[in-house]
Amino acid sequence: MTVSDQSPVQQVEAAREAFEREFERFARFTGAAASTTDLSLKDAEAEQRALAELRAKHTGKKSALAACKKLIGRVAPGERASFGQLVQRTDVGINESIENADQRLKSIIESARTERDSIDVTIPGRRPRPGHLHPITLMRQRIDDIFVSLGYIVEDDREIETDFYNFDALNIPEGHPARDPQDTFYTTEGFALRSQTSTVQIHAMQRRGAPVRMIAPGRVFRRDTPDPTHNPMFFQVEGLCVDRGITMAHLKGTLSEFVHRLFGPATETRFRPSYFPFTEPSAEVDYSCFNCAGKGCRICKHSGWIELGGSGMVHPNVLRAANIDPDEFTGFAFGLGIDRTCARIYQLDDIRLLFENDVRFLEQFR
Ligand code: DAH
Repeated sequence: MTVSDQSPVQQVEAAREAFEREFERFARFTGAAASTTDLSLKDAEAEQRALAELRAKHTGKKSALAACKKLIGRVAPGERASFGQLVQRTDVGINESIENADQRLKSIIESARTERDSIDVTIPGRRPRPGHLHPITLMRQRIDDIFVSLGYIVEDDREIETDFYNFDALNIPEGHPARDPQDTFYTTEGFALRSQTSTVQIHAMQRRGAPVRMIAPGRVFRRDTPDPTHNPMFFQVEGLCVDRGITMAHLKGTLSEFVHRLFGPATETRFRPSYFPFTEPSAEVDYSCFNCAGKGCRICKHSGWIELGGSGMVHPNVLRAANIDPDEFTGFAFGLGIDRTCARIYQLDDIRLLFENDVRFLEQFR
């Protein structure tokens, strides 16, 4: 049976039934029993689109309902009024059902969007995880602070050097045995990574002349095989004080004040005669162990003393290399290992821990 075989009333009925069959899945969005709040925003939007298609199909220009409307003029005049009313009722019924479902879907979508876009002010905040300073930096800052308070300036100088600054100007001429333990890394252009911060003594004196009081913390490099107490890159802090009438007493006073501030006022110092080409006389400086106060423990290897670094009175040749008259000016200098001191304070068995950048280790210094 084709559509044209049906009576006009049957055609209206068929159009309504076809609509109702397809509308059944949207029935849950109409009436008081509409229980659809568990619908996700995405699903509700998909349903809305499907409903719009359904509306076009069953109420549009090419719909069966539209065809029925055209039939009104063709039915017998006696049946026209009642047929017209039937078409009208069906049209209103279909449109109302669609409209109800559409309204309901709209409100579901709107509240889902509101919920999505709203901020729950009761959710605990995400804790920021700020970084922190490296233990060597912390150590360096403590050293800087002490010397700045004693009137020293902090110099930050180059790490790539010429032989002149790393050796010659420091009274270590070519062929001098003191060059051997400080073998370093050379570039093909004749530059080298500095093997000691003593280079900054020369730069500072050339730049500033005398008098001068400076410290120079920084990286130094040597051709060393890494082991628990060595690393090819490490940190030193150089100190230099040049003025008229500077004596060994100033050197001793300054370094003992330094260890008092770093480790406490009871800390003692000990100066052992030594040799450095750029100082005369020279001395190694020790301080009494901060842990056992000199009695002897694991940290000071049971000697009661810990080595701080080298020091001495600036050699006249070094002053001359920087165009300072050794007859007018004298000075003292010292060089300390920052990471070595750091390793002692934190009781690290292996200095390489400081350079591995393992956050599990570093986090302990937060
Ligand atoms: N530059 C020396 C080194 O790396 C340390 C040093 C010793 C520095 C004595 C000085 C000093 O200024 O007077 O081993």
